[in-house]
Amino acid sequence: MKIVVIGGTGLIGSQVVARLKTEGHEAIAASPNTGVNAVTGEGLAEALKGATVVVDVANSPSFADDAAMEFFVRAGRNLAAAEKAARVTHHVALSVVGTERLLDSGYFRAKLAQEELIASSGIPWTLVRATQFFEFAATIAAAATVDGVRRATSRAIQPVASADVAALVAELAQAAPSNGMVEIAGPEKMPIAELVRRYFESIGEPKDVLTDDAVGYFGTMIDDRSLTPEEGARISQKRFGDWLAAQSKRTS
Ligand SMILES: NC(=O)c1ccc[n+]([C@@H]2O[C@H](COP(=O)([O-])OP(=O)(O)OC[C@H]3O[C@@H](n4cnc5c(N)ncnc54)[C@H](OP(=O)(O)O)[C@@H]3O)[C@@H](O)[C@H]2O)c1
Repeated sequence: MKIVVIGGTGLIGSQVVARLKTEGHEAIAASPNTGVNAVTGEGLAEALKGATVVVDVANSPSFADDAAMEFFVRAGRNLAAAEKAARVTHHVALSVVGTERLLDSGYFRAKLAQEELIASSGIPWTLVRATQFFEFAATIAAAATVDGVRRATSRAIQPVASADVAALVAELAQAAPSNGMVEIAGPEKMPIAELVRRYFESIGEPKDVLTDDAVGYFGTMIDDRSLTPEEGARISQKRFGDWLAAQSKRTS
């Protein structure tokens, strides 16, 4: 079947497209780089012609509060309208575990708005909520470093391999819509400070990180429940340490 992957050139999207092609589907990577812009609507109608399923794994180029809201709301509305016109029968999208617990952050308010647009669109849907990707550890580690001093919270994170998230998204894109949400997380829960230490150690940098719970998560105060999944989540097998080791091998 024809499956259009909005954001199909990104970290998750490129892996979803590859998996769907392996499964024999006509999987189209749709993004500004391939002439499809969900925010302006450019190229959407053409890309969706004959599509059965749309997978949305696009991300806002800016995480600033207003920019993220504008991105997810405009893209959400444009996608719903284009999917209705093309008679798409299943919309699959990717969001973040804990979104409704992180609403002090404009980015998460925008993700919640995206989720609400999907649930009220009238198009059958499935939402996947994932915890932070292993690949996102570099961004978390960079944010922990201010004026050469590294500080991170002891609150819990349960990171997941992006490959495992992509596999679940691809699996659900081929299944019937559930009009519901599935969560996925990695197998290990750890303090964010430990994730930051392990990341720096793996790239050969000093791993001294002060534990400071006043730091929060990108400026938002969190507790041990904020970023971790509910009971019943899919727990994938790939471990953060194995992924870090594989990354260091690749770069050495
Ligand atoms: N980072 C995490 O740890 C994490 C955890 C859970 C869930 N998520 C969610 O996972 C999703 C995918 O994240 P990712 O890391 O794979 O993103 P990414 O690598 O940054 O890729 C973003 C994708 O969005 C596309 N895009 C940007 N502007 C667009 C537009 N106007 N119209 C259509 N496509 C557009 C980009 O296309 P171009 O290549 O053409 O620019 C690219 O394909 C996001 O929704 C995010 O909220 C992330």
